[in-house]
Amino acid sequence: MKLNDYLENVARDVDLLIRRHFADTPDQLSRASAHLLLAGGKRLRPSVLLLSADAIRKGSSFDLLPAALSVELTHTFTLIHDDIMDEDTERRGVPTVHTAWDEPTAILAGDVLYARAFEFLSIAPAPDQARIRAVSLLARTCAQICEGQHMDMSFEKRDDVTEPEYMEMVQKKTGSLFAASAAIGAILAGGKPTQVDALYQFGLLCGIAFQIQDDIIDITSVAERTGKDRGSDIREEKQTLIAIKAREKVLDLTPYQRALSDTEADELVALLTRSGVLDEVREIASRMVASGSKTLGILPPSPERDLLLEMGQFFIKRGH
Ligand code: IPE
Ligand code: IPE
Ligand code: MG
Ligand code: MG
Ligand code: MG
Repeated sequence: MKLNDYLENVARDVDLLIRRHFADTPDQLSRASAHLLLAGGKRLRPSVLLLSADAIRKGSSFDLLPAALSVELTHTFTLIHDDIMDEDTERRGVPTVHTAWDEPTAILAGDVLYARAFEFLSIAPAPDQARIRAVSLLARTCAQICEGQHMDMSFEKRDDVTEPEYMEMVQKKTGSLFAASAAIGAILAGGKPTQVDALYQFGLLCGIAFQIQDDIIDITSVAERTGKDRGSDIREEKQTLIAIKAREKVLDLTPYQRALSDTEADELVALLTRSGVLDEVREIASRMVASGSKTLGILPPSPERDLLLEMGQFFIKRGH
């Protein structure tokens, strides 16, 4: 099966489950919780979970859709809160939750999804021990995402953030959930510890690359394509790898640290391209995916393992 078809199938299944559980709610808080879930999204973390399960034991993904939904709920909870922190107005092509409602409602809407994620994971049809390990891993991951998001915010006030500090931040805020998605799939499928570890590492390294590509997309892709505010990172003075590499080359980005029009953002992209910043950053992401892919060498060959490897490549080639 082609990766695109696989991703479309999973997105369709996840969307159906979301509609079944989150649509048609009358009260405002439930509607605010459902708002971004119903707006779509690539559903990549559920796909990673299901592929990882099948890469361990073919067919095991069959009844893991609620577990797959749990990582999407976790992700969406972090998006709702992230949009408050990053002061963004658009997400998945619709107004952000705190824009459509208000900040208190958005905080609570995120909290609702955070709680429901655990509800869905805890009904996974696996032996108790595996289920507890999965739930415990998701809990640990949520704490890591918070740590990463806190680092992200505290970096805004600094102009001396190093590449290793950036790597630690994105590993926590983004890598950890991809890692957990892969490992939870493996745990629930009955994987051996070495297999679970390998999938965790794969998700972690590819997840870091995914965030590097997200930072590139933030400035290079138009809002019509991404469904998100363009240039949000530069406006918020984020210490992305792009900003760090630009500083190494003594490029002055301060004139761009405000809301940018598409023409101004294009100008900045041209500057970052001319100076070699974007190529350098892309190369780092590509090396992350390459080392993540190596860890899957211990799994038996399977179409699902191949799709995971393809997914790693997709993470750094995507434009939205
Ligand atoms: C966006 O994630 C947030 C990051 C971790 C960079 P996605 O790009 O997976 O967003 P959706 O789920 O497709 O909307
Ligand atoms: C946030 O990173 C990652 C999360 C854990 C939510 P970003 O702030 O770059 O995500 P986007 O670009 O708003 O989706
Ligand atoms: Mg953001
Ligand atoms: Mg953010
Ligand atoms: Mg971003």
